Amino acid sequence: MAQATITRRYRFCAAHRLHTDQLSAEDNRVTFGKCNNPNGHGHNYVVFVSVRGDIHPVSHQVVDVPQLDAVVAQIVVQRFDHQDLNLDPEFSTQTTTGENLVLLIWDLLVDKLPAGRLVKVGVIETRDNYFEYSGSTENSRREEGVRHG
Ligand code: NI
Repeated sequence: MAQATITRRYRFCAAHRLHTDQLSAEDNRVTFGKCNNPNGHGHNYVVFVSVRGDIHPVSHQVVDVPQLDAVVAQIVVQRFDHQDLNLDPEFSTQTTTGENLVLLIWDLLVDKLPAGRLVKVGVIETRDNYFEYSGSTENSRREEGVRHG
């Protein structure tokens, strides 16, 4: 059966500050520049969720779009929209970089969708910053035990 991939776009607005306790105050400023400003700042984040699957013989779609939208809204958008990412429990020991955010969104979604369906998550943070994660078996937060360890 033919397979295809659909990518849906979602949006949320959130505040954050790039900072890590692993660096001194001065090194934080050097590493993160104005993103280390103690007052924080916000982004209009755009999240792309790509789901792959067989093209259904009746609907001719690979996914129930309203169902996917409901999952992403509940798991991702409601969690982060108009929040301070630095206060999210998952970021208590992680810096709120786009890299860590895209991995977290992947981890939040992958178990909520049928196995093998999620193929990529993308996050636009700024005009010039786009992050993506495809669930490679190396370097996942889960395997490092960050979330569950
Ligand atoms: Ni930022």
